[in-house]
Amino acid sequence: MIKFILNNQTIKTEKEEGSSLLDFIRTEMHLTATKIGCREGDCGACTVLEGSLVNGILTYKSIVSCLTPLVNADGKHIVSVEGLNLDGLSPVQNAMAENSATQCGFCTPGFVVALTAHLLSSQNSAAVDSLGGNICRCTGYKSIEKAAVKVDELKQVLLFGSEIEQMIKKGWLPYYFSGIEKRLAEIETIKTNMDGILISGGTDLMVQQADSLRHEKIARAGDFVSDKVAEEDGTIKIGAGITVNDFFRNGLIMEHLPQLSDFLPLIASEQIRNMGTLAGNIVNASPIGDISIMLLAFDSRLVLENKDSEQRQLALKDFFVSYKETSLKPDEIIKYILVNTDMDMNFNFEKVSKRTYLDIASVNTSLGITVDNKLIKEVYFSAGGVAAVPKLMSQSSGFLKGKELSIPTLESVLPVIKSEILPISDIRGSSRYKSLLLRQLFLQHFLKLFPDEFEQKDILNIMTTNSLYDEEY
Ligand SMILES: Cc1cc2nc3c(=O)[nH]c(=O)nc-3n(C[C@H](O)[C@H](O)[C@H](O)COP(=O)(O)OP(=O)(O)OC[C@H]3O[C@@H](n4cnc5c(N)ncnc54)[C@H](O)[C@@H]3O)c2cc1C
Ligand code: FES
Ligand code: FES
Repeated sequence: MIKFILNNQTIKTEKEEGSSLLDFIRTEMHLTATKIGCREGDCGACTVLEGSLVNGILTYKSIVSCLTPLVNADGKHIVSVEGLNLDGLSPVQNAMAENSATQCGFCTPGFVVALTAHLLSSQNSAAVDSLGGNICRCTGYKSIEKAAVKVDELKQVLLFGSEIEQMIKKGWLPYYFSGIEKRLAEIETIKTNMDGILISGGTDLMVQQADSLRHEKIARAGDFVSDKVAEEDGTIKIGAGITVNDFFRNGLIMEHLPQLSDFLPLIASEQIRNMGTLAGNIVNASPIGDISIMLLAFDSRLVLENKDSEQRQLALKDFFVSYKETSLKPDEIIKYILVNTDMDMNFNFEKVSKRTYLDIASVNTSLGITVDNKLIKEVYFSAGGVAAVPKLMSQSSGFLKGKELSIPTLESVLPVIKSEILPISDIRGSSRYKSLLLRQLFLQHFLKLFPDEFEQKDILNIMTTNSLYDEEY
């Protein structure tokens, strides 16, 4: 039996583990302020708060309920906009109303919940950044941005730490929130069995198979896979169940891979990053998976474990076999991702998509590179959208290793890069466009990472005059 708290009500339900939290909230509980927009995680109309005990401390984040399998609500506090209502408007609702940030109102509950999650979080970012996953069809975003600025002002009043207590005291959150930590600690959570369909955040699986999952037995990955990061013998050991946001914001990751943080906004939206895990991104094996492309450039390894708890290690580059096919055996899971800590590497990530944010890439690429005395000592160049799998460009990387960091080196590797890829034409661009794009992004890595070594005009010159692609025009 799944047990959780929905707003102020304790829920015990036998509903299907793989059915969506959104349907439970609306159809079973008749709480209809949470809206159904896209059912694909794109619009944010179904956003709810998910509260859980992290190291014993109650912590809230925004999630999309349409992609949350009901089993993932077990042991959590789920808050729909009804659960935020006070006698009058809450300060966030007020900010929306005063700035005329609502018109038909369809999207408004999602915006209110996302902004409330921002107030509850310890992040210093601007409130508007928490709204990347919320779409409004009719108001116009300027007034919503003004409401977000008002939320920034509200957040400045809160002291660091114990945001929940302070918000209850100020009358910004209903009083029942004060009892949630104790109530959650008392819930006896279920433990799923490995025999079911394995699901982590659900942000890939619930998009692809929502209807069939409802009738399946579910194995909740969180029951078998850690989401913690540890440092052991020169290696960062990342629990493969960590969410994208928790990974990027983890202290050890920020210390050892500080280069990553700039690129977080290029991945999905706040809600999806709060749900989607590293393991899910890797196993989905999408040729344009951003996390896979980044981890390839850190020469990552995977620890795979079978039902008998036997483990084996595999380089991430060898995990991807062919389109959506991986080396994972039917009874295996990804337990950890390993990255060396002694990699004093320069790192850059580039992604081109039709929209800058909340879009999947036409082509994405990472470069991890170590240079000593103008000589390339180590290099891991990865590329997505140009082959059937997220690809470590082994031949190109091998070609570059040991060479001088110079314009002739960059020119001479271009034919190797071209020979190593086989992009297909699809809605994200023609094959020729993707080949050219990878060339430009490869060069862009060097412009960004070595501004003192390369003149912009020299790189631009290669970008515009290299004849390698001429025959295809
Ligand atoms: C709106 C939206 C925007 C998105 N934007 C991006 C984006 O910008 N960039 C990007 O790369 N992706 C994006 N995604 C895709 C998705 O969010 C990521 O791939 C995410 O990391 C998937 O993780 P998950 O935990 O949700 O996977 P799930 O859906 O839970 O699982 C995916 C697969 O992994 C398997 N699996 C999960 N955990 C394990 C494990 N420990 N061991 C073995 N198998 C496992 C599952 O069985 C399933 O086959 C987006 C998705 C949505 C809905
Ligand atoms: S309904 Fe659009 S994100 Fe859930
Ligand atoms: S107010 Fe109508 S969709 Fe946003």
